Amino acid sequence: MIRMMEEKDLDRIAELEEQLFPADPWQKKNFLYEMNDNPYARLFVFEENGTVLGYADLWIMFEQAQIANLAVAREAQGRGIGRALMNRCLAEAEAEGCEVISLEVRVSNERAISLYSKSGFIKAAVRKGYYENGEDAYLMIKPLGGNQYDNAAGN
Ligand SMILES: CC(C)(COP(=O)(O)OP(=O)(O)OC[C@H]1O[C@@H](n2cnc3c(N)ncnc32)[C@H](O)[C@@H]1OP(=O)(O)O)[C@@H](O)C(=O)NCCC(=O)NCCS
Repeated sequence: MIRMMEEKDLDRIAELEEQLFPADPWQKKNFLYEMNDNPYARLFVFEENGTVLGYADLWIMFEQAQIANLAVAREAQGRGIGRALMNRCLAEAEAEGCEVISLEVRVSNERAISLYSKSGFIKAAVRKGYYENGEDAYLMIKPLGGNQYDNAAGN
């Protein structure tokens, strides 16, 4: 089940960050900031039998949405959890009337790029040296229902 992230989840999520993003993990304090001080952030977890297996951080900034973080525990990958979290983010952004949703992803992260492409995102730009180790990011975007230009095109 997907539910809102709570402070009690943060020790587990900080562990998952270390597992999944060893080069630049978010700390507990980063999630606390997102939860308590970032008015644009909505944080979700995927929980199964009391264990958090994945999470997402969605920013809704007026007509624009951004996925700031999306991750699934290694042992639970490939079971549709990433897609379920993505679908929740898309549904929230649509419900808020957003026109576009975007994210950044390492150019080497084929698995994530595959999920995003199948979810309707396209590569819009390369952000040179975006990550601390110098790796480039793709900026990927997806028009949403609130986008009048997209609707006008009949898409
Ligand atoms: C990227 C990530 C979120 C995908 O979540 P997931 O739960 O493993 O993915 P799902 O099971 O929902 O699969 C969705 C799609 O992802 C892709 N995918 C999943 N596992 C894959 C694999 N082993 N190889 C290639 N693509 C894969 C496929 O496109 C898949 O679609 P399909 O089922 O139609 O083939 C997850 O692998 C992850 O957390 N990775 C480490 C952290 C990370 O890189 N986060 C993204 C940062 S931008």
